[in-house]
Amino acid sequence: MTREEIKIRNLDTLADYQKKLRKEPILKQLFLELTLKCNEHCFHCGSSCGGNLPDGLPVEKYKSLLDEVKENFGTKALIAVTGGEPLLYPDFFELMEYTQELGFKWGMTSNGTLITKEVAHHLKEAGMKSISLSIDGLPETHDRYRGLKDAYKLGMEGIQNLIDEDCFNIMVTTVVNHENIDELDALFDVFDGMDINEWRLTGIEPIGRAEKVPDMLLSADDNRRIMEFIKEKREKRIPVTYSCTHFLGLEYEAEVRDWYFLCNAGIYVAGILVNGDVTACIDIPRNEKTIQGNINSESFTKLWKERFEIYRTPLSERNEKCAACPEAKWCRGDAYHSWDYENEKPKVCFKGVLF
Ligand SMILES: C[S@@+](CC[C@H](N)C(=O)[O-])C[C@H]1O[C@@H](n2cnc3c(N)ncnc32)[C@H](O)[C@@H]1O
Ligand code: SF4
Ligand code: SF4
Repeated sequence: MTREEIKIRNLDTLADYQKKLRKEPILKQLFLELTLKCNEHCFHCGSSCGGNLPDGLPVEKYKSLLDEVKENFGTKALIAVTGGEPLLYPDFFELMEYTQELGFKWGMTSNGTLITKEVAHHLKEAGMKSISLSIDGLPETHDRYRGLKDAYKLGMEGIQNLIDEDCFNIMVTTVVNHENIDELDALFDVFDGMDINEWRLTGIEPIGRAEKVPDMLLSADDNRRIMEFIKEKREKRIPVTYSCTHFLGLEYEAEVRDWYFLCNAGIYVAGILVNGDVTACIDIPRNEKTIQGNINSESFTKLWKERFEIYRTPLSERNEKCAACPEAKWCRGDAYHSWDYENEKPKVCFKGVLF
């Protein structure tokens, strides 16, 4: 069997499995957007965070949500806290200690700048298992993108403080754009020398503030360059991976990451936004089609079990071009965060770009 035939067989199997999952979803990851506050102000921020924006729900509300999740789903789901900068949530450690006490595993995405030695140790005590830290370029570039002097220095110190605790799964995430793509080789040299578990590259998505900077979005050539870069580097010591998003076609599926594309939104993943709105994944645009209810007035369990219909029907069925596309059975209209809900079409489609 050729490599291509193996991929087709695996993708077909996954397509069948996904049909089953849409009927019987499994809650594997629950995101909590703890705050929109941030000490950085990234030009590309998909959730338009920064400054003194609101915090999430009172800590007691999150605790009762976790009690409910434990009662109805057990403790198998990973609780993933994000923001904004999650460490700015006032009751951060109280909540995470409670999460641990209940028996959940938890992880976090962070810009790393607030992770002093003491904070790293406290994260260990509170039972954090995994963390994604953002580094988007060499020092000058990273600081400029993130609107914070010394963001790179502080972020890298944060990573080192976590490494020193020697107990977390550490992933560094770099959002690649049309400009910093030229720094990938230099960044590889930086991360290859560090004791991290994974370096994950993801393309800048046309969401939030990034929609206002079209010149920084990736061209077709840029996307191909990223895929070729990852393919080449994956042979080396540090595991470089493309993120979970987008159907990449037969040439790159299972080559730049260890799995085949499956948008997890609403079949494995749910998210609670700062105001209690319930969605599938935090990066998904917030509108009446994507928000399924609010935990201040409805039970999360009921929403997960009885709503979420949009996430359990392929997006490709909402657009004629996708419905007629030969790749639709594998791509299914691509990712929920990059769907244009107003015009019912994908904002990102790699067909004709990568394959
Ligand atoms: C919204 S941030 C929240 C956590 C934390 N403040 C941080 O920067 O890591 C989560 C992740 O989304 C990434 N991100 C933000 N805007 C993005 C965009 N337009 N496209 C792709 N990734 C983006 C960030 O760089 C970060 O890795
Ligand atoms: S990407 Fe993260 S660090 Fe940057 S502004 Fe958004 S929430 Fe803050
Ligand atoms: S046309 Fe639609 S279904 Fe086909 S590859 Fe593009 S996003 Fe996916």
